[in-house]
Amino acid sequence: MGSRIVATGRAVPRTALTNKDLERYMDTSDQWIRSRTGIGSRYAMRQGESLADIATDASRTALERAGVKPGALDAIIVGTVSSEYAFPSLACQIQKGLGISSMPAFDVAAACSGFVYALQVADAQMRAGDFKRVLVVGADALSTMVDWSDRRTAVLFGDGAGACVMVTEAGNRGVLSSLLRSAGEHWNLLSLRSTGIRATIDSEVRRCADDAIQMKGPELFKIAVKRMEEISRLVAARAGVKLEEIDLFVPHQANLRIMSAVAERLGLPPGKVFTNIDRYGNTSAASVPIALDEALEQGRIHDGNIVMLNACGGGLTWGANLIRW
Ligand code: UT7
Repeated sequence: MGSRIVATGRAVPRTALTNKDLERYMDTSDQWIRSRTGIGSRYAMRQGESLADIATDASRTALERAGVKPGALDAIIVGTVSSEYAFPSLACQIQKGLGISSMPAFDVAAACSGFVYALQVADAQMRAGDFKRVLVVGADALSTMVDWSDRRTAVLFGDGAGACVMVTEAGNRGVLSSLLRSAGEHWNLLSLRSTGIRATIDSEVRRCADDAIQMKGPELFKIAVKRMEEISRLVAARAGVKLEEIDLFVPHQANLRIMSAVAERLGLPPGKVFTNIDRYGNTSAASVPIALDEALEQGRIHDGNIVMLNACGGGLTWGANLIRW
């Protein structure tokens, strides 16, 4: 018995910030951001908005599309590192938002790899027979954790949530294989100290630079390309799938140049790589499920297709899920 994604959903904050908007706040340009990252705009939370509400909206959409009542869920597993609360978990907040209780609800902290990690955890527990219907969510609001005067990080991140409903199923569809990896020795390539302070572009709250997201971009870039390529090959080999059999590659949307480099190394043509970073920026754990939801909406995935989800982020963490749709 395996697990299969039967429906997805997504939600974002109300405000879209374009690169031109950011030019008013810091010394940057639309040209630099587009050419170095592929980002054109991103959704950013304002004061009064809540990641829990956005994640609950995405979850509701996925549940409705799946025809699964919230009360029928056996577990809620959420990849996130930016909930308003250190505890309760975002999973418990979503559970409250959906008006249900009793089933286990917990977060998985793997930064940008959070959704890929959460999906692996759900799949393994479903294969073990623990759960039959699981809500898996990736949600983050890293725009609230940057130093808005630091152009090296402030232009990169957007906020949002993506969700999917997974059910156990016999047969050859569903998650074929997942692989997760971490390298704690690279912890300081992308990090954020826990302070509990939140800043948004329109608020007076300013934190000291050390308490905002710290990133060594160029070093991270090189490792991300290498690791994402490597894990793709490993997970495909483990499932007995050839790389050329992949119909759609859905990578974490951190940088268009990273995605292109990984795809090129894997021999995947641009038409097999899903990107939406131009409209979302880097939404951390939300990026893969938001991209998956859009890919389905755009008819890019058909029954029987081989889809690879892939991510790399703070930790370092990285991983991939190979799915037969
Ligand atoms: O989601 C988790 C995984 N994340 C990643 O894997 C991110 C990996 N890294 C990257 O995507 C890229 O390294 C960045 C997009 C973060 C940076 O791009 P880069 O091409 O590596 O630029 P850089 O950091 O080497 O900076 C090049 C120049 C610098 O100026 P000087 O020193 O050459 O004069 C920066 O100060 O670009 C400057 N710069 C900017 N200029 C205008 C940096 N940020 C900006 C900006 N606007 N926003």
